[in-house]
Amino acid sequence: LHIAVLMGGWSAEREVSLMSGEGVAKALESRGHTVTRVDMDRNVAAVLAGIRPDVVFNALHGTPGEDGSVQGMLDLMQIPYTHSGLTTSVIAIDKVLTKQALVPHGIPMPGGHIVRSECLYAGDPLPRPYVLKPVNEGSSVGVAIVKADSNYGDPIARDAVGPWQEFDELLAEPFIKGRELTTAVLGDRALGVTELQTKSGFYDYDAKYTDGLTLHICPADIPEDIAALCMDLALRAHNILGCKGASRSDFRWDDEKGVDGLFLLEVNTQPGMTPLSLVPEQAAHVGISYADLVEIIVESALG
Ligand code: DAL
Ligand code: MG
Repeated sequence: LHIAVLMGGWSAEREVSLMSGEGVAKALESRGHTVTRVDMDRNVAAVLAGIRPDVVFNALHGTPGEDGSVQGMLDLMQIPYTHSGLTTSVIAIDKVLTKQALVPHGIPMPGGHIVRSECLYAGDPLPRPYVLKPVNEGSSVGVAIVKADSNYGDPIARDAVGPWQEFDELLAEPFIKGRELTTAVLGDRALGVTELQTKSGFYDYDAKYTDGLTLHICPADIPEDIAALCMDLALRAHNILGCKGASRSDFRWDDEKGVDGLFLLEVNTQPGMTPLSLVPEQAAHVGISYADLVEIIVESALG
């Protein structure tokens, strides 16, 4: 097949996407496919019209790329592409729309509401501890955890420590204490549960992409009912949203509360494919190599 690997772009996750895309491109070449690497810019439609690939592997992360825009363009061009389609992408990139889609189906998610960032100077939007996050970013870009002792009362300190001031609106959610878990879904199968243990206690951008900063425990050393619940919720969320190919659902688990302490935070429709990424790691654990994973994702785009 002639496969265009779409990567890079201009989201905050550009560098992550370049790593995902390069890994994917090499794996596809190792399987004998003809690969064109496409670093997305505003001429991407013309570039794709020129090279006419059989299929696009979408290795973009964030906005645009994970948000439905690229999916809509490829729909119009009638080029098949990997991962989720337009409507799913529009909903899943938006953490508020995702809650609105999943909570009525009984998927447990933290409550929360949108705050305008200038209102944060007036005081805490929720009782502490809480999390401030952009509605539609990935890789923890712009996320801040406001703890009981965080120095957020002082506007100057807020400017110094709050990555949130770059965003007009933020989602404020209660912070779920406890543990960080994640589950990959490939096709119609949840692959497993991984626990992320970070040195800093926050699985932020650096902890995600710096080798050695986070311990990946795969499979997670957690009770069987919690693991089963993660896999069930991830698969249900994948299906309710209409995800295609691969997705990854991220959870927080307050282990003092048992099954009642498990909360789905979000569903990632373009999960990372870097050397430190979690979907390839869970796939490997169930005997699916990186190159096999990439081929399965491509096949699901064509099937
Ligand atoms: N947003 C990153 C790439 C992930 O979900 O893996
Ligand atoms: Mg995400």
